[in-house]
Amino acid sequence: MKKRVGILLSGRGSNMMSLVEASRDPAAPYDVALIASDKPDAAGIGWAQAQGLATWALSPKGIGKPAYEAGLDTALRDAGVETIALAGYMRLLSDDFVSRWRGRILNIHPSLLPKYKGLDTHARAIAAGDLHGGCSVHLVTEELDGGTVLGQAEVPILPGDTPDTFAARVLEQEHRLYPRTLAEFVSR
Ligand code: GRF
Repeated sequence: MKKRVGILLSGRGSNMMSLVEASRDPAAPYDVALIASDKPDAAGIGWAQAQGLATWALSPKGIGKPAYEAGLDTALRDAGVETIALAGYMRLLSDDFVSRWRGRILNIHPSLLPKYKGLDTHARAIAAGDLHGGCSVHLVTEELDGGTVLGQAEVPILPGDTPDTFAARVLEQEHRLYPRTLAEFVSR
């Protein structure tokens, strides 16, 4: 039986697309059961709808975080989701939500954790004079970008790199690392 994965995103969703594409391999150990967002107009939601995938989107604005997360939790459970993959989800999940899905939420972060938690990771790595940056897939806990690291890919920082040129090369590696790490995670 394939494991059922739910993907949460807020933006363009390129990592979501790479997870969906990998799931179409008959040998993939997971199916994408739901793509959910806090932004009904996110580009990633439009793409998923055009692909005929199941989507759920609701803005927390006006209803508050508890009601929003209750709706999200119900949508994920109704879709039979067992593992959640955050892919450019720009909102902090509450401690309560994290504890209800403990050990079953993954995230991709554009740095070699534990270095550069939070935002502006590429600019910070360049400013520090690092020779390498990269990306990490990790378990989500109550601590921001703090859970166990499940997989990493290293990317060299080249002379003349700007945060944008470096981010583009890191993103290519994110698209390889996330499907592979998620597949290993749901198979273990
Ligand atoms: C990626 O850089 C990812 O590492 C970070 O947010 C960005 C999402 O990009 N968590 P996309 O929406 O998957 O294209």
